[in-house]
Formats: sequence, C-alpha cells, structure tokens
Amino acid sequence: MITIVTLDGPAGVGKTTIARELADRLGIAYLDTGAMFRSVALFFGDGGWERPVDQLVPELNRLDFDLEGTGKYSELLLNGLPLAPEIRKEEVGLWASHLARIPVVRDFLRRNQQAIGRSTSLVAEGRDMGSVVFPGARHKFFMDASIDVRAKRRHAQLKSMGMDEDLERIRGQIRIRDDQDRNRVVAPLKPALDAVIIDTSALDADRVLEKIVDHIREKG
Ligand code: C5P
Repeated sequence: MITIVTLDGPAGVGKTTIARELADRLGIAYLDTGAMFRSVALFFGDGGWERPVDQLVPELNRLDFDLEGTGKYSELLLNGLPLAPEIRKEEVGLWASHLARIPVVRDFLRRNQQAIGRSTSLVAEGRDMGSVVFPGARHKFFMDASIDVRAKRRHAQLKSMGMDEDLERIRGQIRIRDDQDRNRVVAPLKPALDAVIIDTSALDADRVLEKIVDHIREKG
C-alpha cells in the first residue's frame, strides 16, 4: 500500500531537514517539490515568469521529473540528470515564487508530483501538498515559525552549502516570498483543514521530528 505524508509550510521553516529525516525513518522516498519549482525557475531564468503562457507550455513539456531512491538518498532527476546546485540560491527561490503563481506551471508540476506519488510512498514537502496535490494523504503536517527564526535557519542552511548570503537580504526575500505564496489565487500557502500544525520557533529539529513521528504512530 502507498502511504503519503505531506509536510507544508513557509520558506526557511526547516521542512527539508525534517522531511528528509522523516522519510529515512519511515523507509520511504522524499519529494522536495520546492526543488521542482526552483528547477523550472532556473530553466526559464530571471524574468521568465513574464513570458506569455503559450510560450511557457511547450517549454514545460520538455521537462520530465523522476524520483529515485528512498529516505536521505532520494534524488530528483530532471530529464535524467541531478538538479543544479544553483537552484538553492535565495534569488532562485524568489523567481520560483513568481512562477508559482502561474496556473499552467502549477498544473504541470502537480501532474508530475501526483504521478510520482502513484508509484511510491512519499514524504512530500512543499506549500500545497496537503491542500491540493495529495488531499487524500494519510498524514498531513504544517510547520510554521517566526520570520526571524526562518531567516536565520535559511542563512545557516545556505552557509553549510558554501553559499554565504547576507542575513538581512535573505530576510527581505523571504518576506516577499511569504506574501506572494500566501496571497496567490491558485493553491495559496495555507494548512489543509485536516493538517497538524507545528510551531517550530522554539523547537530544534530533533524535537519537531519526534512530534511528527509520535503523531504518525498514534494515528497508525
Ligand atoms: O520550498 P522552497 O523554498 O524550495 O520553494 C520555492 C518556491 O516554490 C516557494 O516560495 C513557492 O513559491 C514555490 N512552491 C510552491 N508550491 C510548492 C513548493 C514550492 O508554490 N509545493
């Protein structure tokens, strides 16, 4: 039987760390849907979201995502190749957030995400996993934290990847992304009605993971 666990929340809340660990504990695959939006953003480049929709569609159809492996070793492939490390830059996150408002882009990625979820059990991380992409998921979680905590977490994550970006700049970009992600018309960032909400502002990653694992055990 296929089990889907959804993990949604705003930028920099620490979803990636938790989702990877959780998938590892459960022995299932980890799907980073933000990485899919970021890869499309990098493919279209700066300002790509301003192109007419009828130009975007044929380009999108050239992209094919695939997921291999389980837990920490899950790897998303785009047209058979690993994703570019530059997708992690905060600037590319902002481009992704502009593109994420366009319905044809969301539809295209939703279809890819649902196809992956039909073939394997997943911890699916994103903004609309519980509300739109996998409404029937067995377990749904929504992580939140203050903007200060999130900016610091994102700063530390980028630093650990060798990208030393300015903390204030990251905070500003996260604020813009938050506004765009929460206020867009299609699939805005919001908890699914049946999601468990976890405020992680005062919790470290181990504690958050324990809480989530406890909920999953209780529900079975
Ligand atoms: O999660 P991450 O920060 O990598 O996502 C980058 C951007 O992609 C988000 O700010 C959001 O605009 C978009 N996104 C989305 N829906 C998802 C995942 C990401 O709209 N399921």
